Amino acid sequence: SRALKPVVSVAAQNGAKTFSTTSEMQIKVAVLGAGGGIGQPLSLLLKHNPLISHLALYDIAPFTPGVAADLSHIDTPVKVTGHKGPEQLGDALQGSQVVVIPAGMPRKPGMTRDDLFNTNASIVRDLSLCIASHAPEAIVAIITNPVNSMVPITSEIMKKAGVYNPCKVLGVTTLDIVRSSTFVGEINGDDPRCVKVPVIGGHSGITIIPLLSQSQPPCKLKDPEKIDTLTKRIQEAGTEVVKAKAGFGSATLSMGYSGARFTNAILRGLKGEQNVSECAFVKCNLSEAEYFATPITFGKNGMEKVLGYGKINDYEQKILCAAMPELLKNIKKGVDFVKKYD
Ligand code: NAI
Repeated sequence: SRALKPVVSVAAQNGAKTFSTTSEMQIKVAVLGAGGGIGQPLSLLLKHNPLISHLALYDIAPFTPGVAADLSHIDTPVKVTGHKGPEQLGDALQGSQVVVIPAGMPRKPGMTRDDLFNTNASIVRDLSLCIASHAPEAIVAIITNPVNSMVPITSEIMKKAGVYNPCKVLGVTTLDIVRSSTFVGEINGDDPRCVKVPVIGGHSGITIIPLLSQSQPPCKLKDPEKIDTLTKRIQEAGTEVVKAKAGFGSATLSMGYSGARFTNAILRGLKGEQNVSECAFVKCNLSEAEYFATPITFGKNGMEKVLGYGKINDYEQKILCAAMPELLKNIKKGVDFVKKYD
C-alpha cells in the first residue's frame, strides 16, 4: 500500500475532481455481498485501489448504505455507493466492468463447502441472472463457496441468457495460493511475498492441489511424509480457521486480502498491463473436468491465457487423480442445478 500513497495524497492535495492518470480509465467495480465478513474488508482494500473509480456495494443486509457511508469518508478518490435489497441491485451493476461476489453463507464447524450448496446456489443463480441483464459484459469473480459448483452455475446462467464469455467467469482460489506461500515461507525462512506456489484443481478439500514441487524458491521440505502433511494442511487450512472461529464464521480477513489481490489482477489486465497472472478456477481443457483451477493471465477481456501447470511429480499426479471424481461431481451439481430450472 506504500506505492498507493502518492496517488492518493496528490489527488487529495489538489482537491482533484478528476483523478490520477492511473484511474483515467474509469472502472466501476460492484461487490455483491459487501456487508459480510469478507465483503467489508474486501471493500476497504478496494477503496484504496487507484485503478477503481467507483465502488458499488450491494448486499441484502439493511446496514449496507452505512458500510458505504463509512468507507466513503476514507480520503481516496474512489467513489463509493451503497445498494440494499434486490430492487437496488440493477443500479449497483449498471456500468460495472468487474463484479466480485462474496455473497452467501460461510461454513460452521463440521461443515464441508458442499454443505453450503443448497443455500448459496440460489443466491448465486439470482445474482447471476441480474448480472446477465444489467452488466452482461462484466468480468465476474466468484468467491462464494462451493466455488467448484458456483462457477458452473454462473456460466450456465450466462449461457441461457446468451451472454456467456468463458474468459469472464472466474472462480477465486487466491486464498489457496496465499496460504501456500505463507506456509512454505515459514518453513523456508523466506519472505512469503517472494514465494510462489501454483495451486491447481479446485477449491475444496482434496480438490485443492498445491504444486509444492514447483515452489519458487524451492520448498526446503524433501521428506515425502512432510510434503504430504503440508499438502493436507493447505487443503484443510480453511477448516483450521472455521474451527478456531468456533462457529463465528470462516476465513474473512485473509479472504478479503486475497479477493482484493485477485480483483487487482483483473484490473491490471483491463488496463492493458501484460503478463499479470494468478491462479483461478476457470473453463479450460486441461483435464476431463470442464472447469479447473490453473495459473492464467489477465487481459482486456478477463482471462487472456490459460498457462496450465507444466510438469508435476508422481505424488501430485496421484492426488490429482484422486481428486477428479469429487471435482467432476461438484461441477455436475452446479450444471444440474441450473438445468432443473429450465
Ligand atoms: P458472511 O455471512 O459474513 O457474509 C455474507 C454476506 O452475504 C452477508 O452480508 C449477507 O447479507 C450477504 N448475502 C446473503 N444473500 C445475499 C444475496 N442474495 N445478495 C447479496 N448479498 C447476500 O459470510 P462470509 O464469511 O463473508 O463468506 C461469504 C462466502 O464466501 C461464503 O460462501 C464462504 O464460504 C465463501 N468463502 C470463500 C472463500 C474462497 O476462498 N473462495 C474463502 C472464504 C469464504
